Amino acid sequence: MQALTSFFKRKILRIDRDRWNYQYDKGLWDGLKGLDELARFSVIVGYIKFLKPGQPEILEIGCGEGFLQQRLQTQNYGRFVAFDISDSAIKNAQAQADEKCTYLVADMDKYAPAGQFDMIVFNESIYYSKHPLKTLQRFATYLKANGLLIVTINDHKHSDALWQSIKDGFELMDEATTVTTKSTCVCKVLLPKGAKS
Ligand SMILES: C[S@@+](CC[C@H](N)C(=O)[O-])C[C@H]1O[C@@H](n2cnc3c(N)ncnc32)[C@H](O)[C@@H]1O
Repeated sequence: MQALTSFFKRKILRIDRDRWNYQYDKGLWDGLKGLDELARFSVIVGYIKFLKPGQPEILEIGCGEGFLQQRLQTQNYGRFVAFDISDSAIKNAQAQADEKCTYLVADMDKYAPAGQFDMIVFNESIYYSKHPLKTLQRFATYLKANGLLIVTINDHKHSDALWQSIKDGFELMDEATTVTTKSTCVCKVLLPKGAKS
């Protein structure tokens, strides 16, 4: 009965949370922990350590199973808040979390975080917002003065259009492209327009 309900929600009602839970439970996203995904995490870790050394407060949106926090390591953040629409992913992330982490189940198109952050990261997740530019702009209001956004987008046939659609709201501070045996990923450090860093 549970399987039938899940099928109905995923396929008929197209409920995102059920779809993502199904995919995580089936192991369809296990590849994200692989060596061929390491480069894009390493670039983000490098940017965080270089641009916000010490104990930055970080918010990650669409965090999956928490691989960014695990790769960044506890000595490099003062607070790490992260959320994802999938309960299954968050359960796995929580299993690896420390006392400075808060993992939550939430939808990026609705959730309003508590407090402000030095860095807000969308790692392979902005595609899933219904309004990418609006979502980035809304979360940018939760940045501290001098706060920065980090966005990664995997190279695919819609990626240029997606970058184009969000470009007007932000200034580009830096970008790096990683190429692995699996994919090409562009990582950009963005400053809300009008903010000074
Ligand atoms: C390609 S995975 C990337 C996961 C993780 N950032 C990583 O790089 O390993 C995309 C993630 O976005 C999450 N997601 C999709 N729609 C979402 C939404 N509306 N709000 C929050 N998270 C969402 C999915 O559950 C999934 O974990």
